[in-house]
Amino acid sequence: ALDIVAAIPLGYLLGSIPFGVLVTRLAGVGDVRNIGSGNIGTTNVLRTGRRDLAAATLIGDMLKATAAVIIARQLWGEAAALAAGASAFVGHVYPVWLRFKGGKGVATYLGALIGVAWPIALIFAAVWLGVAAATRYSSASALAASVAAPVMLAVVSRHPTSAAVVFAVLSVALWVMHRDNIARLMQGRESRIGQRSDPPR
Ligand code: G3P
Repeated sequence: ALDIVAAIPLGYLLGSIPFGVLVTRLAGVGDVRNIGSGNIGTTNVLRTGRRDLAAATLIGDMLKATAAVIIARQLWGEAAALAAGASAFVGHVYPVWLRFKGGKGVATYLGALIGVAWPIALIFAAVWLGVAAATRYSSASALAASVAAPVMLAVVSRHPTSAAVVFAVLSVALWVMHRDNIARLMQGRESRIGQRSDPPR
């Protein structure tokens, strides 16, 4: 149990690194929180028109969670790895450095999933890409992928039940974080991927 407790701050600290904010500020395009939806993630960084910065944000926000999982597994084992991944998600969504106003957790969820069960992460990515190709809605793609992942974790028997349960909880959190996006989707007001116009806050 102590190992799981140790994994929580490790995951949280890595997860709380806000790559979208760092990358946009370092590149001198301003702070991503001042553009588009105000969100700190890849989708909103893309609204600066800088694909390179969006890619850097995606890779950073993803791999920080993968790193947390791998480090915790090396130090403390599989239960701690799962705890570190979940904590990275919490760190991204509630980063102390941004007064707990973080992102919506899609890339960080995927990064944790890569560390815990990479074949399921491929399914998450495939569902995301499929829905994105069909709809051009980043939010709808993430919502669909986040349903598929815990279901597949539960169905593929070689993964522990605890992993399916933890990712199901993270998926519920991800849906809650997307409540404004869900409202916009239902009203037909959600902006499409790469669309520069600002969605209403
Ligand atoms: O899942 C998509 C999410 O990142 C949407 O971002 O900026 O459109 O609220 P945004």
